[in-house]
Amino acid sequence: MLVLGIESSCDETGVAMVQSQGDAVPTLLAHALYSQIEMHQAFGGVVPELASRDHIRRVLPLTRQVLNESGRNLQEVDVVAYTRGPGLAGALLVGAGVACALGAALGKPVLGVHHLEGHLLSPFLSEDPPEFPFVALLVSGGHTQLMRVDGVGRYALLGETIDDAAGEAFDKSAKLMGLAYPGGPLLAQLAQAGDPKAYALPRPLLHSGNLDFSFAGLKTAVLVQSQRMLAAAGVSHFQALPGQQQADLAASTQAAIVEVLLKKSVSALKQTGLQRLVVAGGVGANRALRTQLNAECAKRGVRVHYPELHLCTDNGAMIAMAAAMRLQSGLQQAVMDYAFDVKPRWPLHSL
Ligand code: KG4
Ligand code: ZN
Repeated sequence: MLVLGIESSCDETGVAMVQSQGDAVPTLLAHALYSQIEMHQAFGGVVPELASRDHIRRVLPLTRQVLNESGRNLQEVDVVAYTRGPGLAGALLVGAGVACALGAALGKPVLGVHHLEGHLLSPFLSEDPPEFPFVALLVSGGHTQLMRVDGVGRYALLGETIDDAAGEAFDKSAKLMGLAYPGGPLLAQLAQAGDPKAYALPRPLLHSGNLDFSFAGLKTAVLVQSQRMLAAAGVSHFQALPGQQQADLAASTQAAIVEVLLKKSVSALKQTGLQRLVVAGGVGANRALRTQLNAECAKRGVRVHYPELHLCTDNGAMIAMAAAMRLQSGLQQAVMDYAFDVKPRWPLHSL
C-alpha cells in the first residue's frame, strides 16, 4: 500500500511517500520538506497568515518532487494522509484541503493524522525501530508530554507541561539572549562553549512527585539573571556581554531544561516498569539531552530510541508513517469522505 502524507501544521511544509506491506514496518520511499523559518525570522516567531499562504505555494511542488523521487505516479497512491491537528488552523486547512482535493480527484480515500502521533511514531522510520510497549518523551515547540505507549493508538498520558513546552522554554530564553527564531538550536550551539553550572537556575517541578512539567518560571529566571549580568557589566544588551558569560548562561539554561526532562523520563520508566524510551519532537534533536539520556539509560539497561536527526522536527514522513501504521493496525480506515475539518486543539490521548 502506498501512502502519500502531507504536513502543514506550523512553519514546515512536508510531503512524503511511504509503502507498507503486510505487518512489516512501513518504509519511506521519498520525502521533501520546505522550512519557512527564514520568512518568520524577521517577526521573531511564526506569523500564522504568512505560514498558510506559504504552504499554498510549496505543497504542490513538494508533492511533484516526492512523486519524482519515489518513481511513483499519483494514480498508484492508495491513501492520501494529512495532518488534521493540532496546529495553526489556517495552516492545517491548506494540507487538509490539498489532500482531500487530491483524494477526490483520484477517487482514493483520505486519512487525517494527529501531528503528535506522527512525532511519536517517527522513530519507526529509523534503522533501529523500537518495539512496543515504551515510554515516550514528546518534546516539541508546543508540547511536552510523557506517554505510556502500548501500541499504535494505545496512548496513556503520564504527565505533561502545565504551562510552557520545553521547546518554548528554549525559544523564549534564546530570544532573551538576542538569538533568532527558533532559538532552540542556536541556544544549544552557544551552550557548547559554556559551563552548565555557572548560574543556578530553577528546575521547576523536579521534586513534585508527579510527571508534570512547568517551564514558564525558567524564562523569568533567565531574564532576571541576564539583567543582573547586564547591570554588572554596564552594557544594555545581552550580546554586548563577554562571550563566555553568554555561553555560560546558555549552557545553564540548557542544563536546567535537560535535567528536568531526564529526571522525569527516568521516573516515568520506574513508574511503568518499562525498559524502553522513545524521544520524539524537535527538542529531541538536542545533543545535550541525547548524551545525558543515553548515559542514564545505559546505566539502567534501558533502550532509548530517537528519530533520525533530520526527522526530529516537523516533516511529512512522520505523517505518512503514522497513517500507514494506523491503517496496518486496523484501528482506522481511510475514508472516501472529502468534507474535511481540522482540529487546532486535539489531545493525543483522546485518540
Ligand atoms: O517538533 P517541532 O519541529 O515543532 C512542533 O511541533 O512544535 O519542534 C520545534 C521545537 C522548537 O522549539 C525548536 O527550538 C526546538 O524544537 N529545537 C531544539 C533543537 N532543535 C529544535 N531545541 C533544542 N535543541 C535543539 N537542537
Ligand atoms: Zn511538531
